[in-house]
Amino acid sequence: MKATAIAPANIAFIKCWGKKDDVLRLPLNSSFSMNLSGAFTTTSVDFSASYKKDIVELVDGTFSQKETERTVSHLEAIRKYLGVSTFARIETKNSFPKGAGAAASASGFAALTVAAFASAGKEVSEKELTIFARRGSGSACRSIPDGFVLWKYGETSEDSYAHSVYPASHWDLRDVLVFVDTSMKKVPTTEGMENIKTSPFWQERVAGIPKKIRKTKEAFDEKNFSLLGEIIEAECVNMHAVMMTQNPPLFYWNETTMKIIQEVKEWRAAGLPVYFTIDAGPNVHLLCEAKNEHVVTEKARAISDVQLVLINSPAQGAHLL
Ligand code: DP6
Repeated sequence: MKATAIAPANIAFIKCWGKKDDVLRLPLNSSFSMNLSGAFTTTSVDFSASYKKDIVELVDGTFSQKETERTVSHLEAIRKYLGVSTFARIETKNSFPKGAGAAASASGFAALTVAAFASAGKEVSEKELTIFARRGSGSACRSIPDGFVLWKYGETSEDSYAHSVYPASHWDLRDVLVFVDTSMKKVPTTEGMENIKTSPFWQERVAGIPKKIRKTKEAFDEKNFSLLGEIIEAECVNMHAVMMTQNPPLFYWNETTMKIIQEVKEWRAAGLPVYFTIDAGPNVHLLCEAKNEHVVTEKARAISDVQLVLINSPAQGAHLL
């Protein structure tokens, strides 16, 4: 009854900020992401009658009580769906610091979902897996399909799933993930996005997303890197403007984040095609083409206060080991 799955984190080029249903985690808008080869979670689930309760273990770290409860309640939802009554032992390991805005909840809930269904011996479609993963953490649904993935806005749970739009091999991009702070973020995404509607800009943001997704697909079809870069930077700043104008305001950036943003502009002015995007934390994702991976990585490492740099290629989605 034991199965182990591995799932990548993902970086959203067009982001999800705000839910229309907080329980089902239905988003206010569609989003589009790339799976990351260097940032992943490996999770084993072992259903066994020998366990008297669920056991949740994080290798090389500890889960808070809240995180343990969220993990167990996700397992409980899967158990209910499968009609399984035995408890399980869950063992999970991240290849990168969790909670630092680097989407550990995405890779974590994607790996947990895939491992739980497999350990119960139940075959389900990729679409169903994405729907279940979404209920654990919204962006987790994007870590299940391969490569570059769209998470669809949907009126109902069945209608809000993720699917691959381009395989990982479509475009040899690099996401150079620059950690400037590896500690847990102060306001978790679930909590932060509950206040989206207190920002005067939220409706405009949500209304603008379909056009941004169309333009992103155009950039992908033409492999037009500067077009993609311009879209993702503007989208990142748009989301953070909404965060900063919520009540209470949310400031995820720190001084080093700002320094990197300024540097990226200078590097670009000097002829290096690189663009930034940032999730709910201070860490910066630098997007470039494979040919510029080394120079971008060296420049990132040379910035003082940078703690860790992780290089990511487009990756396949969650799968069993
Ligand atoms: C800023 O998927 O982490 O990274 O469903 O509450 O776990 P929960 O939210 P989550 O939100 C991701 C927010 C984001 C943007 C994105 O990845 O789309």
